[in-house]
Amino acid sequence: MPSTTGSPDYRDAGLEFPPGFVIGSATASYQIEGAAREGGRGPSIWDTFSHTPGKVWNGDTGDVADDHYHRWESDLDLMQELGLQAYRFSIAWPRIQPTGSGAVNPQGVAFYSRLVDGLLERGIRPIATLYHWDLPQPLEDAGGWPARDTAYRFAEYAARTAEALGDRVHTWTTLNEPWCSAYLGYGSGAHAPGRTDGAAALAAVHHLNLGHGLAVQEVRRAATNDPDLSITLNFHVIRGDDSTSPEARRRIDALANRAFTHPLLRGEYPKDLLEDTAGVTDWGFVRGGDLAQINQRIDVLGVNYYSTVTVKMWDGASPRANNDGHKDVGGSPWPGSREVEFEKQAGPYTAMGWNIAPDGLEELLLSLKEQFPEQPLMITENGAAFEDRVTETDAGRRVHDAERVDYLNRHFTAAHRALAQGVDLRGYQVWSLMDNFEWGYGYSKRFGIVRVDYDTQERILKDSALWLQELLATRRTPGTSEG
Ligand code: FCB
Repeated sequence: MPSTTGSPDYRDAGLEFPPGFVIGSATASYQIEGAAREGGRGPSIWDTFSHTPGKVWNGDTGDVADDHYHRWESDLDLMQELGLQAYRFSIAWPRIQPTGSGAVNPQGVAFYSRLVDGLLERGIRPIATLYHWDLPQPLEDAGGWPARDTAYRFAEYAARTAEALGDRVHTWTTLNEPWCSAYLGYGSGAHAPGRTDGAAALAAVHHLNLGHGLAVQEVRRAATNDPDLSITLNFHVIRGDDSTSPEARRRIDALANRAFTHPLLRGEYPKDLLEDTAGVTDWGFVRGGDLAQINQRIDVLGVNYYSTVTVKMWDGASPRANNDGHKDVGGSPWPGSREVEFEKQAGPYTAMGWNIAPDGLEELLLSLKEQFPEQPLMITENGAAFEDRVTETDAGRRVHDAERVDYLNRHFTAAHRALAQGVDLRGYQVWSLMDNFEWGYGYSKRFGIVRVDYDTQERILKDSALWLQELLATRRTPGTSEG
């Protein structure tokens, strides 16, 4: 049960976070780096996808993005100015292995090596994600994540990367949101590589899980500084009070949440998941011994949270509601569960159309503690896109993003309430450090606490960045003007 103390709308101020609670911010390689054809980088599925007409809003691509590949040093200075304790970034597989296997590309390794050194020099803890969706295109051509071999290629890449950086990275995250890679990439087609095949999506789920387990073992073997190992999942917080909602909730929980948590943390696939999807696949791709490989101890479980979903079963006649928060491009990200409806939820909403529900974050953290009591957690993403406006002032350009400040304040309040109820929550990484390429939405959605002017590459600290800076300096939530 969510706590009942504090402000009912989660607008508390002055909440103190313990020194060990690591506050930082997050980005991902394809979303910020640019330099798509520099430094020996090979093409990824997101290069191919974004260059395919009609796939990304406005034809936007990550070719230039935030030009972070060239501006990494001043971006690090910015992080230091904000006082970040940690920076969660991702490593582009096609920079390390341009074709997805074989020898490493020294220029790619050198880029991340400099980045990690630069973080450490500034006292910022490096949290490196090995896979934030940029699969080398040759591996997709060979079958992608629905093909078993991709899991072994991922383990090889993890090993090579940990051999290069495994003396300095504090936390390694194998995969970011395998839910998106599998179901949006191979089921709905909203993400690269844009395939729409439910059976392929479920095979991808398994091979991502397997790739994670193999990679954890490789990184543990290769790293010399006793790093934390983790994976980041985008949990679905599922609601619904229709008489059919319990069944719909069970099905979506199986596909979205337990398809990952159970193999990863318990070494089994949920029986109801296998039954619900029996008409799509016989799960013959799960081989003897796989679950033991997948079920590796992790030091911290990464939690990404933005909003909730509300479900019920479809009556088969009325127009099917599809408000699952993901871009609708025709295919379904819910193999075997098309008869589940996603209802429109009460606002307020962010610019993504996602409902703002800080209570959902508290509820999620409490539920994870209950399900996996021994598992430390870290919020690896939380944040919001809004229609920011730049204001010219005597002191320079400003972005008064009061809605984002309020969003962050309310979600930090939710995290604090979870801590107060005994959740072993180790930190909070705000998504995102700066505006960037928001996948199928291109540059139309701005999640940054730092604004990026895409014409000049100028960085402007939004009010939300100043709010975070104050939180980091005082260790207390500053509150908001609305609070
Ligand atoms: C998550 C992704 C991240 C970003 C946010 C808004 O699903 O991990 O890259 O796009 O959503």
